[in-house]
Amino acid sequence: MLPLFVCPGEGVRNAISSMPGQAQLSVDLLVRECEEMRKLGIGGVMLFGVPDTKDDQASGAYAEDGITQRAVRAVKKAVPELIVMTDVCNCEYTSHGHCGKVVGNDVDNDATLEWLAKTAVSHARAGADMVAPSDMMDGRVGFIREALDEHGFSNTPIFAYAAKFASVFYGPFREAAESTPQFGDRRSYQMDPSNGREAMLEMELDLEEGADLLMVKPAGPYLDLIRQARDRFDVPIGAYQVSGEYAMIHAAAQNGWIDLDRAMMESLTSIRRAGAGVILTYFAPDVVRALA
Ligand code: PBG
Repeated sequence: MLPLFVCPGEGVRNAISSMPGQAQLSVDLLVRECEEMRKLGIGGVMLFGVPDTKDDQASGAYAEDGITQRAVRAVKKAVPELIVMTDVCNCEYTSHGHCGKVVGNDVDNDATLEWLAKTAVSHARAGADMVAPSDMMDGRVGFIREALDEHGFSNTPIFAYAAKFASVFYGPFREAAESTPQFGDRRSYQMDPSNGREAMLEMELDLEEGADLLMVKPAGPYLDLIRQARDRFDVPIGAYQVSGEYAMIHAAAQNGWIDLDRAMMESLTSIRRAGAGVILTYFAPDVVRALA
């Protein structure tokens, strides 16, 4: 599955310098890209909205005419067969760049759940096939599940970023999504990279709360956890090869230090071998072409 960034405007393609080949696209160009992805036969897309205004209530995240909602409606109208998933998070929409409501110097977990539920419902209403909460607030999967059910979306699955680590490898994404925290870091809600057992606990909790698929993120540095999750849980396991993993391969290839195509293939083969059934990767079109 291919992650894509959508921004306001028309005819806009803002290249992301640290992610060669990737760009923020306005809705019209996003639709064209999705048509092409459908023709290529990739599994689907994951949409990230980059709004033009932000506030401390993340109101753009759950606005009915927000950037992601508009993008979903346009893509599902033009390419109904393409699976469209949405990232459900607040960091692209808050002025401070945190994934939730900031009270004092902390993110208020429970107040944030309300925003997340509203966002997920608005994405489903716009036509999203699946919602993917990536915020890592406690209890969010159950909260979102209930809200979806209440609003008539009991058939919309939740792809939970269940084991999401506080990782340096999200660096390029934060440039792409303009979501770098303005103070502090995400360590109070994302997981400690040294703690593998907690990842299994987080996955178990998300399953109990109603997650339909579980994700490990990043992918390459956490292959052990993909394997453990595959052996332990009987739902599809996803893995997200994140922006930094993609950027590192490109940077080394640009220097002539490794072969781009082989590095892409080997990294993705390893993620598959570890047990991922669904892979999110910025290489999606390249790998589909290479496999054709
Ligand atoms: C939003 C979110 C992030 C990524 C996906 N969803 C960034 C973060 O948590 O800081 C990272 C994806 C990537 O690096 O490719 N919370």
